[in-house]
Amino acid sequence: MTLPMKKLKVGILGATGMVGQQYLSLLEHHPWFEVVFLAASEQSAGKSYAEAVKGRWHMQKNIPVDASDLIVSRIDDLAHAMQCSFVFSALDTDTAKLWEERYAAAGIPVVSNASAHRKTDDVPMLIPEINPYHLGIIPEQQKRRGWKKGFIVVKSNCSLQSYLTPLYAIHRHAPLTKVMITTLQAVSGAGHPGVASFDILDNVVPFIRGEEEKSEQEPLKILGTLQNGTIKPAIGITFAAHCNRVPVLDGHIACVSFSCEKKLSSDVIKKLWNEFVALPQQLQLPSAPKHPIIYRPEEDRPQPRLDRDAEGGMAISVGRLRQCNLLDFRFVGLSHNTIRGAAGGGILNAELLYKQGYFL
Ligand SMILES: NC(=O)c1ccc[n+]([C@@H]2O[C@H](COP(=O)([O-])OP(=O)(O)OC[C@H]3O[C@@H](n4cnc5c(N)ncnc54)[C@H](OP(=O)(O)O)[C@@H]3O)[C@@H](O)[C@H]2O)c1
Repeated sequence: MTLPMKKLKVGILGATGMVGQQYLSLLEHHPWFEVVFLAASEQSAGKSYAEAVKGRWHMQKNIPVDASDLIVSRIDDLAHAMQCSFVFSALDTDTAKLWEERYAAAGIPVVSNASAHRKTDDVPMLIPEINPYHLGIIPEQQKRRGWKKGFIVVKSNCSLQSYLTPLYAIHRHAPLTKVMITTLQAVSGAGHPGVASFDILDNVVPFIRGEEEKSEQEPLKILGTLQNGTIKPAIGITFAAHCNRVPVLDGHIACVSFSCEKKLSSDVIKKLWNEFVALPQQLQLPSAPKHPIIYRPEEDRPQPRLDRDAEGGMAISVGRLRQCNLLDFRFVGLSHNTIRGAAGGGILNAELLYKQGYFL
């Protein structure tokens, strides 16, 4: 498809939160999308964006100039939102549950980071490098609900991003059977103010509510197949997860052991990672990393501080590939949780949707 010169007008729901701020930062000079609509809760509505985030702007860059003076809307200001070709949703789960459907019903596609619709069997949970063909379910989603232009596409939980793409690169060559994951997740994954400093400094919290279930179930949907108008989860693979909160600002680590149906060598796995490219790279989407998986040969990498910003925070760094005494192999994966795991991942989803003609 030929892309028009004019940028698409887009909105951000939950624009004042941690992920909403990351969206604004990443979209500042985006070649295809221009942010024209921001919505948040009652405490922010009616204020300029700069006023609404005063004292709680967490990005390293300043607030984009064009966004500073935009007046934050109430979430129910659908009349104002209608100027948008689509919206990103960075709402908390309960608000997302209510409002994402209302936006879609009003004809505004929603590209969401929230977990509200991740389990819905006709809502694609998209990682563009893995399951772009799941977007084929959108017409069925619209037909079932009587929606004309609107639809909902979601992103997975941020922790998956550190291990699922490296595992998928192997899975498409040698199907996985068992995966054991231990995550070390950054504090920014809990939004702001998140975990109290008193609870996380000098500490590790071995519990994140709901996270282990998401880490075990969501991969099955993403690796699943389209059948009779629903996404059927993959069978024949078992995931087990331990999820921990650690005193790191950004960057989720996953320590992974896995077994496959056939025997592999570490040289083959490294080759699969080093040569892995997928649809976003073939389509040259603006936010697609050139190297989606970067293998670090050093014995002590990847590390959050050194590797989370690889390819603008969109690449996944892997390292420490070695034999496992219980399963076949083990490795360490790392991704930037608020970029690849949240806003950057949402933008890549939207770029794929746009390039494939879903925003009418
Ligand atoms: N942080 C991560 O790394 C990460 C990664 C992946 C996915 N996610 C998901 O992304 C979503 C946002 O996460 P976050 O960390 O950015 O959360 P957050 O910092 O708590 O931000 C929540 C946003 O939702 C808005 N909001 C809350 N209640 C509302 C209401 N009743 N009506 C309208 N807007 C409302 C807030 O507006 P006010 O500022 O006005 O209150 C704020 O803009 C969550 O669903 C989260 O699970 C987060």
